Amino acid sequence: MAKDIYIGEVLTNEEVRPDFFLLKIELPLDFSEPLPGQFVMVRIAGITEPFLGRPISIYSYERSKSYSTIELLYRVVGKGTQIMAGLMPGSQLEIHGPLGGSYTILPEKQNIVFIAGGIGVAPLSLLAQHLCNNVCLPPSQMSFYLGAQTALAVVGLDKLKELCYNIQICTDDGTLGKKSLVTSAFQKDMKKYDPATTAIYACGPKPMMKALASILGESKFNCQVSLEERMACGLGACMGCAVAVKDKQGNVAYKRVCADGPIFNLEDVIWE
Ligand SMILES: Cc1cc2nc3c(=O)[nH]c(=O)nc-3n(C[C@H](O)[C@H](O)[C@H](O)COP(=O)(O)OP(=O)(O)OC[C@H]3O[C@@H](n4cnc5c(N)ncnc54)[C@H](O)[C@@H]3O)c2cc1C
Ligand code: FES
Repeated sequence: MAKDIYIGEVLTNEEVRPDFFLLKIELPLDFSEPLPGQFVMVRIAGITEPFLGRPISIYSYERSKSYSTIELLYRVVGKGTQIMAGLMPGSQLEIHGPLGGSYTILPEKQNIVFIAGGIGVAPLSLLAQHLCNNVCLPPSQMSFYLGAQTALAVVGLDKLKELCYNIQICTDDGTLGKKSLVTSAFQKDMKKYDPATTAIYACGPKPMMKALASILGESKFNCQVSLEERMACGLGACMGCAVAVKDKQGNVAYKRVCADGPIFNLEDVIWE
């Protein structure tokens, strides 16, 4: 049986934009192939401060004859990610995962709309790659709405260009693409998409998700979102990452993002 805590070795850790890094890690072959939407808890081997791992989505995965590699795309926001930014090739990491559930692929949905805010591009890129490789969806059937505060915070574009033809970039200050919220850009196009044949996958900051929930309202679109709550154990034991959702009867229930998510149907999430 595959274990799920691995020692990984940093191959590269490149600053792709100010405060955004692409970390490539070599892992043993028994690291399972991640499903799109899954994440790993990252800890620096031998360091006890910060003690808790940091959840980061898997951005890409490859397997050779002798090892696996994953890439993580991350933004420096605090202590843990600051330490990660200083990692040099050869540094060792404790990688726990792949963790969490995955986006559900719906065979009847032949058109895919991705909506990402900032670093939310990471899990959606792995999903686009999966749909291209495993479901053989052509780039013409995948549309990507990518929003960020400013041009320097737009990351992951090169990879997306290989996977999707229709990429709409929006920035808050208009320094790249449209000067618009990414959700407004999608709203303008919404009529182009048929809910019966279109699936929407989203990941981004809470205000973006809340806006998306209000735009989709009572529509018939299936929209799955990845939630990025703060985590402690990452294993479903502490309830530190609980979010309020509606259960099947419409009652309020609390779900753990790490163990029950991080993917949820947008319509089930209760946004405060
Ligand atoms: C399932 C999942 C997948 C994720 N994938 C990625 C990813 O691919 N790339 C990436 O850059 N980040 C991702 N995150 C967010 C990432 O885990 C946090 O940015 C990170 O834990 C911050 O650690 P830190 O020690 O640097 O910051 P801290 O010192 O812990 O916090 C610094 C600041 O960031 C805020 N913060 C911390 N965690 C979060 C969070 N989860 N959401 C919003 N604000 C937060 C804090 O409130 C504080 O203001 C993901 C989170 C989850 C739950
Ligand atoms: S982080 Fe502990 S239950 Fe999710």
